[in-house]
Amino acid sequence: MAKVKTQFVCTECGADSSKWQGQCGECKAWNTLKEFRESKTPAGRPNFNQDERFQGYAGAKSNIQTLSEVSLDEQSRIVTGFGEFDRVLGGGLVNGSAVLIGGHPGAGKSTLLLQTLCHLAKQLPVLYVTGEESAQQIALRAQRLNLPRDDIKILSETNVENITETAKSIGPKILVIDSIQVMHAPGVESAPGSVSQVRESAAWLTRFAKQTGTILILVGHVTKDGSLAGPKVLEHMIDASVMLESSGDSRFRTLRAIKNRFGAVNELGVFAMLDVGLKEVKNPSSIFLNRSDEASSGSIVTVVWEGTRPMLIEFQALVDGTSMGHPRRVAVGLDANRLNMMLAILNRHGGVFTGDQDVFINVVGGVRVNETAADLASILSILSSLKDRPLPNDWVVFGELGLNGEVRPVPNGQERIVEAAKHGFNRAIVPIGNKPKKAIENIEVIGVKTLDEALQLLR
Ligand code: TYD
Ligand code: MG
Repeated sequence: MAKVKTQFVCTECGADSSKWQGQCGECKAWNTLKEFRESKTPAGRPNFNQDERFQGYAGAKSNIQTLSEVSLDEQSRIVTGFGEFDRVLGGGLVNGSAVLIGGHPGAGKSTLLLQTLCHLAKQLPVLYVTGEESAQQIALRAQRLNLPRDDIKILSETNVENITETAKSIGPKILVIDSIQVMHAPGVESAPGSVSQVRESAAWLTRFAKQTGTILILVGHVTKDGSLAGPKVLEHMIDASVMLESSGDSRFRTLRAIKNRFGAVNELGVFAMLDVGLKEVKNPSSIFLNRSDEASSGSIVTVVWEGTRPMLIEFQALVDGTSMGHPRRVAVGLDANRLNMMLAILNRHGGVFTGDQDVFINVVGGVRVNETAADLASILSILSSLKDRPLPNDWVVFGELGLNGEVRPVPNGQERIVEAAKHGFNRAIVPIGNKPKKAIENIEVIGVKTLDEALQLLR
């Protein structure tokens, strides 16, 4: 038997260490070092190269070139036909790329991929490798969802060597591995799902994909705390990592890119899980905005920019006298530091003291907002709750706040206002710099320069 070298690998950052330690020397995370057995046999480093175009990629020999000499043809994309999926990928699957789809068990990863592949199989050779469900279960699901079943190839297998052998013989354009946690690689002795198995299996498969120009889609499960189990160590091997998550209402799923070498990472795709599988939600504003007709204090609608499109979401704040010595600050769907900053600005430039109040703020629908354009909405919803004064239901608010109490313009102001008008909002409070020169139909736009001007609207 080949000599086996034992190493320890951090599940957080992937750093190697020759001995076990309580804390990772690189990223300083605690209790993250896991044993890793690396085989010394060269079998762990196979060469799948069959095609000259992919020489030099992922391990084979290559010649030096200038950038302009490099052929760009291979960058063309395959459109999956699932508009929301394509949007998150940055316009479709790039030839020869490796994509990781993460999510909790039951999020719908297998369903999404099965639906996508059944349709793509009509144009291209595809191979769906299932290690979790049997081929029969997949077939039954495809039948129930009424998907075309004639062209898609299914393989029930967990050994990556067998998978690449089979793939070599049928030459699929797209190879799906469901999931990477159940795969095992030759020469690695630890259990499937462990760091070493995940790392070696993924390395084996990405190597195959890169050297043959196959699109590789890996499915990965996430742990309870939301991080990808094991695959943290493979994030550098893949080109794009997307997460499928259920948001607030359990019927809806959001797909978001965390890393994408071929597109923007802030795109959000929205799906609904129905009894006929996943359906795209083309107009997400309508699902995140489900308000009662009556205006209530603390509730304010804002327009955030998600990748390439605007989305309307609701903020809810509750401000209540604190019963304990230390006031509580709770932000759900929003950065807690940003909330503290808003409260400081409100105190200093708006003259509203909240030091004796508990402040809770929530973004409705389980959406996460990272945009500073939501500042004005969060500060106004806090004031609205504090003063118990509702903002009329047909008003929408957006704008960034500066530390001097100035309201700063945000990108894509015009599109945000148009989106609000489309959803029946009649008045928009926006930074003066975002006020359009030409009036927009059905909506009155109020431009504000300072926080004080905005607060006047609630006084
Ligand atoms: P699945 O794709 O198996 O999830 P994953 O691969 O991410 O673990 O999806 C399973 C869930 O989706 C399951 O809880 C049931 C639900 N579902 C529906 O509601 N409707 C459907 O048509 C399908 C196929 C699944
Ligand atoms: Mg699954």
